[in-house]
Amino acid sequence: MCPPTHFAVTYAINPWMDPGQPVDRDLAVAQWTTLREAYTGLGHRVDVIDPVPGLPDMVFTANGAFVLGRRALGARFREEVRTPEAPVHREWLTSRGFDVHVPQAINEGEGDLAWTGKHILVGTGFRSSPEALAEIASVFGVPVIALDLVDPRFYHLDTALTVLDEHTIAYFPPAFSAASCRQLDALYPDAIVVGEEDAMHLGLNATSDGQNVVMAAQAKKMADQLAERGFIPVPVDVSELLKAGGGVKCATLELHT
Ligand code: ARG
Repeated sequence: MCPPTHFAVTYAINPWMDPGQPVDRDLAVAQWTTLREAYTGLGHRVDVIDPVPGLPDMVFTANGAFVLGRRALGARFREEVRTPEAPVHREWLTSRGFDVHVPQAINEGEGDLAWTGKHILVGTGFRSSPEALAEIASVFGVPVIALDLVDPRFYHLDTALTVLDEHTIAYFPPAFSAASCRQLDALYPDAIVVGEEDAMHLGLNATSDGQNVVMAAQAKKMADQLAERGFIPVPVDVSELLKAGGGVKCATLELHT
């Protein structure tokens, strides 16, 4: 995780961002601290990367890389304003002994890449490029499944889909093309389908350890749906980060080691 020390909305690269709307940085830091404490309270280790001045979106560490085992694929951002974040994450991972691949194609890390335990789901359509698919498959040697995102509000895969455990996902179907919905339905016939209201709180921008699901407190129906299926929702309020179009998952790079 990266503290939102320099958090701001100074540019608009997704429909949630409005540089004219004020951002309360202290509140962002307080909410981020609560998120971090939620993880440590669940027994998860949290490593922190130093924030860099002038990189207001660096709090969204999920976009910095995708990590599986000791291998990592660095990010390559679509927007120039975020480009300088990529080497910072690569250096962090390299200095901790990860084997870091420098990408050729645009991929925005765990924002668009999700490990299911069997394959990597890859969201394309807004940020990550279809050309990244072959690169991802060759770096990690596991099957890759491409999913087309079609609603600009859900511009990263992790805004519209959460992997809950090896057999279960939750998602918001209208964020995907009809063909991708059919594919998801075939892979996950028991998926939890989340409604628009919860999706608009970025409820699906959640992290799961297979049991506990850390998620936006505002996504109340989704929390009930998860509880009905035996998961334990862990609500946190990260509403300030939502002004940049991010939530719980965006603020968390999971090291699937
Ligand atoms: N403002 C950031 C952007 O548009 C938000 C990134 C959110 N991260 C995520 N994993 N969805 O790039």
